[in-house]
Amino acid sequence: MNKQDRPTVASGHGQQAIATGQPSLGDRWWRPFRRAGSAEVFHVDLSPHAAREREAFAWLDGEEQARWSRFRLDRPRREFALCRAALRLMLCELLACANGELTFEDGEHGKPAARVRGQPASICFNVSHSGSHGLVALAGRGRLGVDVEPRGAERDLDVLIAEVLTPAEHSQLAGADAERRRQLFFRLWTMKEALVKALGKGFSLHISEFEIPPSMCNGQRLCEFRFPHLPEVRWRLENLGTPEFAAAIAHECVPSDDGPAPNAF
Ligand SMILES: CC(C)(COP(=O)(O)OP(=O)(O)OC[C@H]1O[C@@H](n2cnc3c(N)ncnc32)[C@H](O)[C@@H]1OP(=O)(O)O)[C@@H](O)C(=O)NCCC(=O)NCCS
Repeated sequence: MNKQDRPTVASGHGQQAIATGQPSLGDRWWRPFRRAGSAEVFHVDLSPHAAREREAFAWLDGEEQARWSRFRLDRPRREFALCRAALRLMLCELLACANGELTFEDGEHGKPAARVRGQPASICFNVSHSGSHGLVALAGRGRLGVDVEPRGAERDLDVLIAEVLTPAEHSQLAGADAERRRQLFFRLWTMKEALVKALGKGFSLHISEFEIPPSMCNGQRLCEFRFPHLPEVRWRLENLGTPEFAAAIAHECVPSDDGPAPNAF
């Protein structure tokens, strides 16, 4: 693990934005959540909060504000604005730029990447939001994917299980009582989605086409993962679940210029 590969983001409340001319943020709605290898993960509080939502909206650029307007429901509006504004401030601090200098460009399957004054920014990130919980993962290098699912979410588990799990994963759930089955399913699902998001292909790579190692279903927190169609690339896969939500992060292992992979195990 290389210290210089870790992003550092100020996390105190009531801090001023670093560059002048930025909207001020009196109360931050995100906090450091977990360090995962060389990546930092922040939790974003997405519970309804009119004042925060107004502040967050002011941080968005014109394109983002237009996107916000296209959401018809409050919940996706809130998730998008609170997460994107939090991400903006984290990136402004890490990249020492003003909010107005930061833009996002979506890849082929919609994965956003940051640009500063039109140039690709030297930072990797990924965002996930669901219900009251958002996660933002940041790292100096290596593709990243993160996923969060609140534990109370109402879902038709039988349909999802049939759609997203392989037969071997399915058998891991056999015999478990309803609560355990639910837990195991969300553990597997968030790990699979984090991997797909790290790759950046979205659901164009179907998550039933690869398998999570059984040890990760049985309580192991961390493993090295390789996609069957991409065996040369290693991913650091970590379960980030808490009693409130299931969550996972996948981070590409890339060798640093001066030694072993910064996010080695
Ligand atoms: C990416 C995807 C898996 C997200 O799933 P989700 O559970 O609905 O959403 P999450 O909350 O976990 O993540 C959403 C965030 O992931 C990021 N994201 C979007 N597309 C992404 C992709 N292809 N890979 C990784 N991250 C992506 C965005 O930051 C997004 O948040 P934002 O829109 O507020 O910035 C899903 O939307 C998908 O498969 N998209 C791809 C669709 C596609 O292939 N389109 C092709 C034509 S554009």
